[in-house]
Amino acid sequence: MNNRDEGEFPLWGIYFHVTSACNMSCSYCYSSPSFNPISDELTKEDYDRIWPDVAALKPSQVIFTGGEPLLRPDMMDIIRGLKEADKDHAISRCLNTNGTLITPDLAKKMLELVDHIRVSLDGPSAINDKYRGQGSFNTALEALDILSNVGFEPRVTITVSKINLPYVKEFVQFMLDRGIKDIKINVLRAMGRGKDYSEFILSPEEMEKVNEETLQLIAPDKQLYKEEWRTTCNVGRFIDVTPNGMVSPCHVLRQYKEFQCGNLRDMPLIEMCSNDRLMGQLANLNFTELVKEDWGLASILDPYSCMGDVYGKFCEKPVWKKIITLMQI
Ligand SMILES: C[S@@+](CC[C@H](N)C(=O)[O-])C[C@H]1O[C@@H](n2cnc3c(N)ncnc32)[C@H](O)[C@@H]1O
Ligand code: SF4
Repeated sequence: MNNRDEGEFPLWGIYFHVTSACNMSCSYCYSSPSFNPISDELTKEDYDRIWPDVAALKPSQVIFTGGEPLLRPDMMDIIRGLKEADKDHAISRCLNTNGTLITPDLAKKMLELVDHIRVSLDGPSAINDKYRGQGSFNTALEALDILSNVGFEPRVTITVSKINLPYVKEFVQFMLDRGIKDIKINVLRAMGRGKDYSEFILSPEEMEKVNEETLQLIAPDKQLYKEEWRTTCNVGRFIDVTPNGMVSPCHVLRQYKEFQCGNLRDMPLIEMCSNDRLMGQLANLNFTELVKEDWGLASILDPYSCMGDVYGKFCEKPVWKKIITLMQI
């Protein structure tokens, strides 16, 4: 039995990659953004058409990400659209940012629109700046200060590979000492520009260790968090939306055509999530049953597993063909 098979499996988060543009060029970025947005990005009007479906689906969170979401001049208007559609505020509105565009004025404006802000930082200055760009460490720290000063409790997201692994513990303590309590370990995946880092991807043992050590520092009394962090793949609990509206179960599976669910300009989100379509089928996919059909997929039951990685390794296995056909009814 794994965490998927224990009954209720609600929709956890919808990631809207609102732009493919970025003012930074982190060397491992899965989004491989360019400095300019692509021409057919979803508009504010497109989002306003999507929000009623999102409100009806009631994910725990909507995450605005990119590229750098704050490069969009209409970003606050887009978020306001979700706020208005989600009248009872059932959905947390979250924003992932590199921090470069955070000013005190913007931070104050965001207070009434954004529930959680996550700023990315990968370790001490030398390590962070080598991979995320010169000066990005200081800029991110300044952004965190500005956000804290206006009343946010910003999260720091640390994307970990074998390269920065030795520095994580010391860096987590550094952030705690600065008053940042919300710290999240994110594992580097070999996607987009991250493909160049395949040899530096953490092993499950390393993931376990870095999570344990981080938890020890941030919440030594709360070992119950441990089970929350050590999940198997949560495919079916997430939805990934690209800047031009393409929907996939997650940003790892997005790269496989057979796991793309369609475009929000052509099909309502709610229809994509119905039980007889791909998203619905994935939400109901029972990993234990899947492994019984083909024991070669057993690693999907491991803690920290990723179905996208397993699919990438074993996509030729007949068991997938059956599932994919089922999902494309
Ligand atoms: C793609 S960025 C977009 C938001 C914003 N520009 C930022 O840097 O936070 C969102 C998060 O994904 C992380 N990320 C980028 N490439 C990744 C990869 N190959 N594997 C895992 N996480 C990655 C970033 O470090 C960041 O924390
Ligand atoms: S991780 Fe964020 S800041 Fe870095 S290149 Fe990717 S989108 Fe830009």
